[in-house]
Amino acid sequence: MIEIPALLSILPNMVGKRILDLGCGFGEHCKLFVEKGAEKVVGLDISQKMIEVAKLENHISKIDDIHLSMEDLATLNQKFDIVVSSLAFHYVEAYPKLIKDIYHLLTDGGYLLFSQEHPLVTSHSQGERWIKNDDGMKLYANISNYGREGERDVV
Ligand SMILES: C[S@@+](CC[C@H](N)C(=O)[O-])C[C@H]1O[C@@H](n2cnc3c(N)ncnc32)[C@H](O)[C@@H]1O
Repeated sequence: MIEIPALLSILPNMVGKRILDLGCGFGEHCKLFVEKGAEKVVGLDISQKMIEVAKLENHISKIDDIHLSMEDLATLNQKFDIVVSSLAFHYVEAYPKLIKDIYHLLTDGGYLLFSQEHPLVTSHSQGERWIKNDDGMKLYANISNYGREGERDVV
């Protein structure tokens, strides 16, 4: 409801472009990029199951679904005009390396567009998740862990 329209609203012109989708999941965005005129789309995901679903449900010609992690991006021997990633960067520990690897895969003047999970989602570490009133209505989220950098666990 929020992230997808925001991300799609800033996509550059995709006609004739080679696109890489990092953490493509079921591949819905890959299909959309082809519909928007992309010449070739590579979707990669660390999950073999996600890639299998992408191949079953959203595969059309011009799309290459690859089982690969973002950590191994440097093994891709291709160039792209646009790299897109929707809600997946927060799973990668070595952010500077990821950005460097993407830089080497992009053509000159290429674009990187990404979204990532807001830290609000994982910032609860102790006490109740929600502060509620006497009627049980949620008043505030407990974000006691908000400022802590580094790895976070999600139960
Ligand atoms: C929240 S889903 C988003 C999927 C898709 N981008 C979308 O917007 O519908 C995050 C995806 O990132 C993938 N992922 C997580 N860590 C990854 C990694 N290190 N390398 C590649 N993909 C990863 C997950 O398997 C999952 O498919």
